[in-house]
Amino acid sequence: MATPGEGEAAPGTFRDRLRRCFSHALCGLADDGVVAIPREDLSTLIDQVRETADAKFGDYSGTMAMGLAKKAGRKPRELAVEIITRLARSPEFAAIFEPPGDPVGPGFINVTVRADALSAAVLAACRDARFGVPIVADPETVVIDFSSPNVAKPMHVGHIRSTVIGDALARILAFRGHRTITDNHLGDWGTQFGMILWGWKRFGDEAAFATDPTAELGRIYRTVRKLTDGKPDELSADLGLADLAAKYPDAGREVLLETARLHEGDAENKALWERFMPACLADIEKIYRRLDVTFDHRLGESFFHPFLAFVVEDLQQKGLARESRGAIGVFLDGDDKPPFLVRKADGAFLYATTDLATIQWRLAHWKPDRILYVVDHRQGQHFDQLFQTARRWGLGDVDLVHVAFGTVLGDDGRPFKTRAGDTVGLESLLDEGVERALAVVATDDAMATDERQRVATTVGIGAIKYADLSQNRTTDYVFSFDKMLQLTGNTAAYMQYAVARVEGVLEKGGIDRETLRRSATEILLADPKERALALEIMRFGEVLEDVEADYRPNLLTAWLFDLAACYSSFYDALPILKASEPERASRLALCDLTGRVLRQGLELLGIGTVRKM
Ligand code: ARG
Repeated sequence: MATPGEGEAAPGTFRDRLRRCFSHALCGLADDGVVAIPREDLSTLIDQVRETADAKFGDYSGTMAMGLAKKAGRKPRELAVEIITRLARSPEFAAIFEPPGDPVGPGFINVTVRADALSAAVLAACRDARFGVPIVADPETVVIDFSSPNVAKPMHVGHIRSTVIGDALARILAFRGHRTITDNHLGDWGTQFGMILWGWKRFGDEAAFATDPTAELGRIYRTVRKLTDGKPDELSADLGLADLAAKYPDAGREVLLETARLHEGDAENKALWERFMPACLADIEKIYRRLDVTFDHRLGESFFHPFLAFVVEDLQQKGLARESRGAIGVFLDGDDKPPFLVRKADGAFLYATTDLATIQWRLAHWKPDRILYVVDHRQGQHFDQLFQTARRWGLGDVDLVHVAFGTVLGDDGRPFKTRAGDTVGLESLLDEGVERALAVVATDDAMATDERQRVATTVGIGAIKYADLSQNRTTDYVFSFDKMLQLTGNTAAYMQYAVARVEGVLEKGGIDRETLRRSATEILLADPKERALALEIMRFGEVLEDVEADYRPNLLTAWLFDLAACYSSFYDALPILKASEPERASRLALCDLTGRVLRQGLELLGIGTVRKM
């Protein structure tokens, strides 16, 4: 379970403080009768205070005057002036922001942070373990259900998104001060286990299992999979398979029977399940270790099996579920629309039943305010129906969110597959990432072999994660090793390189960072490049807030990229080690802070850094 980091209560980001000032000013409009709109409605408009895209419009801009004018039947510029007048009267505003000028264009209210306030904030950030990033005012308990692969088959490229996005969100929410509970809702009880049970009983190889259990289970899984849903020509092309297919024409149905037997508590199947599970878990654990992903809990579907009969009974008793052609379901959209099935006609429970039991269990044991499901967008309808059913069932006192994501595509724009048309195994994908990263970092002969391997691991794995996280999560994206390992552009390698470069300056100067932080007494921001860098650093907390608001890690990668660009302009334009005091100490402090913030940002994405690459 993650707990928030240390750090005194920060006064909030610049944007928080500005929004507070705007909120007062807007309420003032209502109180003074300038507009006939209730205070509560006005206070929601502070979302329209945002950072500007271009420094020539100031640092932040309030754009609400336009919409408000329409509602109030006034001229936007006049209303903007009314807001500006009230902002200018506020002592909190005057302490942090320059006196606001006239509205710009149709009624934009542009605001600039005062140089002394910015300088003081950066100095405080230099000495703060959280770089001035505030802790959320109302910390929540948030369950994050992510990764959740179906075990008993090897993890493939499709699992990367949930694992990487879920892990990043967990890290970011914890850093913001929420109590996070991560849970890997393993598919450890479904048909894929029935496949293994069925296959093992017919052509399992004890000796092979003893030497390499995962390889043997993988072989069985692939074989049964081909037998049950392989194309006929594929089957006939492979002599061994053709034999098996002829021998077991009814494999598909028999697999379901094995699954049902497991669920009914059949001793033999249960014993085999218990024997196979450790191997399956060891296999996926290996991947999580490589990805540096951990979970607080690993309560798979099997854990909830004992509760499923009760779920169905209770839903029926409460009149929410009823029978339809032997099956039992919740009719969410009227009698003529397909129901949300919780029990099949043959008595088997479904994915939906387990998910309902899981919500109930999580509420009882963890009392979360929110549950995030980081799952493929193709399960959108399932979660839609699940959340509706949970509400009706009386589990409404929690925010249920499907954090959906798109598909990983190959160069051809189709779901990413190997040349032979199989899904790409995650293990080999990671191997290839590290292998290719070696080529990027291996040019330095001075680096020892094991050091080089370590750097390549951090760069290769980081590249794969970053490529995923930097995408808008709801769209599909094309997986390309060439692109993700480029040293320029918005890539992990570029960001890792930026950290190494920033810290290289300090190393070259023989600067002790602790001493630097203690002795820095003033941050000088006379040059626009210094100022731009300082302001960008101070936006960290705002960006993390935006990431949480929409569960979009790509906002963090985009900001890191901007920050690295600000640093580059600063570094290219201004002397640092060769500057004279007091600029030298101030610029070194900015370097130190930039390095730490970049490193922290990458860490929140689950991406490591290296000293040299
Ligand atoms: N095991 C499922 C799959 O591979 C994902 C589970 C997501 N979590 C959940 N609570 N349904 O599709």
